[in-house]
Amino acid sequence: MDKVTVVGAGHVGATAAQYIAEKNLADVVLIDIVDGLPQGKALDLMEAAPVNMHDRKLVGTNDYADTKGSDIIVITAGIARKPGMSRDDLLKTNANIVRTVAQETFKHSPDAIYIVVTNPLDVMTHLVQKTTKLDSKKVIGMAGVLDSARFQTFIGMETGFSVEDIRAMVLGGHGDLMVPLTRLATVNGIPISELLPQAKIDEMVDRTRNGGAEIVKLLKSGSAYYAPGASVAHMVEAILRDKNRLLPCAVLPQGEYGLKDVYIGLPAVLGREGLKKIVEIKLTEEEKEALHGSAKSIKENIDLMNELLVAV
Ligand code: APR
Repeated sequence: MDKVTVVGAGHVGATAAQYIAEKNLADVVLIDIVDGLPQGKALDLMEAAPVNMHDRKLVGTNDYADTKGSDIIVITAGIARKPGMSRDDLLKTNANIVRTVAQETFKHSPDAIYIVVTNPLDVMTHLVQKTTKLDSKKVIGMAGVLDSARFQTFIGMETGFSVEDIRAMVLGGHGDLMVPLTRLATVNGIPISELLPQAKIDEMVDRTRNGGAEIVKLLKSGSAYYAPGASVAHMVEAILRDKNRLLPCAVLPQGEYGLKDVYIGLPAVLGREGLKKIVEIKLTEEEKEALHGSAKSIKENIDLMNELLVAV
């Protein structure tokens, strides 16, 4: 029986657990630092199983021993930025949390594939790989699926067509410098430029870039979790079912796109062993420049994180 551990039983973690169980993908261990929280949510989800008709087991715990032998570890543990908190403070706090989580989970599941969700995403994914020293094929960040889903949602809203027919990919870092590939976005193969004026497309790109912030502003406290949770489950499915899905994910390029030593969103083929392959497509000069700009900003944040972690 496949086993997925979700670290962090907060909004994103619990929602990911729900989708993973309800899509009948795996048994789930939900673990958190707060006593009772993962236990309560896991039990509540178990009690939904007879209604939703699945036999997946969900266990809530504060003990890493219960995560033993997981096939996939999803890391959502961390804190959100609070008013008055600097970006550096957030980076330092989440880096310390994620590093501990990576160490603890790795002790019990040295063969697991990691899906990292905690922000700042690309930097945290880098940290998990460095901490576990796993082959980078086994450490993947979740951002591109979410950013692309948001872009696809907006294309659906603007064109009125079913999202089932809409395909679009967002590359680059998970932040202001993400790179939505508008040129390759289609409605069942028809480029969106045939269906929408450029000004509308620019507006959608902007909305995608600020997709997370738009939700935060509406919720007033906390950040998005349904689409992030669904995106995690989508990647879990691609991996456990060895689907050969081509999804934008934060991965470590080995020279592809002229990039190295930096986790960043690229078209990735996912399967049972994790990242099977980074697919290199020809980008326009403008897209290349945007991707490299995004990589530069992630590298600067990795350097900053290393300084902050040393200073602890
Ligand atoms: N070990 C385990 N769990 C921890 C630890 C730790 N050291 N530190 C914090 N947590 C838990 C918290 O107790 C909380 O339950 O992580 C959970 C985070 O949940 P939320 O605060 O609800 O945050 P959420 O909205 O789920 O976002 C989690 O995902 O999308 C990203 O930006 C988001 O970085 C954030 C992460």
